[in-house]
Amino acid sequence: MLLTAVPRPQGCTAALIGEIIKGTGQNTEVEVYNLNAMNIRGCQSCYACKKEGRCILQDDMQPLHRAIAAADGIVLGTPVYMWQMSAQLKQMIDRLYPFLKPAYSSYLTPGKRVLLAVTQARSDTELFRHYFEHAGKNWYF
Ligand SMILES: Cc1cc2nc3c(=O)[nH]c(=O)nc-3n(C[C@H](O)[C@H](O)[C@H](O)COP(=O)(O)O)c2cc1C
Repeated sequence: MLLTAVPRPQGCTAALIGEIIKGTGQNTEVEVYNLNAMNIRGCQSCYACKKEGRCILQDDMQPLHRAIAAADGIVLGTPVYMWQMSAQLKQMIDRLYPFLKPAYSSYLTPGKRVLLAVTQARSDTELFRHYFEHAGKNWYF
């Protein structure tokens, strides 16, 4: 499964994602979701996912929750915006809250592989490493 948070369909992140898809080989089933074109609202902090086990928002995150749960691996593509992930990706990440148990582990079956595919303009490839490594450790996939 591939999630792209990319406004520019002909941009660098889309090109990187294209190379990743090519590299997966023919036996891998790849589903691509373009977060930029999806209707995914921000978390409303109602805690219904904790109290009732479901998200109250009816939008494109519902099928995405199911697809994420079913996927063996997830690739997240984003450009760096203002030293961080894009807002499109962050909006989706916040909506992963239903997967989070009270003791900060995940309801998802363990063993999913997650790859972050990030592009940036600055030439120093270390500049944003700490941010993405820290963020990526806490997504409860
Ligand atoms: C709003 C905005 C903020 C950006 N912030 C950064 C940044 O903090 N650091 C950086 O290296 N590049 C930054 N960039 C540049 C993009 O990360 C870079 O050009 C990226 O490869 C664009 O991806 P795309 O071609 O898929 O759109 C920013 C670009 C935009 C539009």
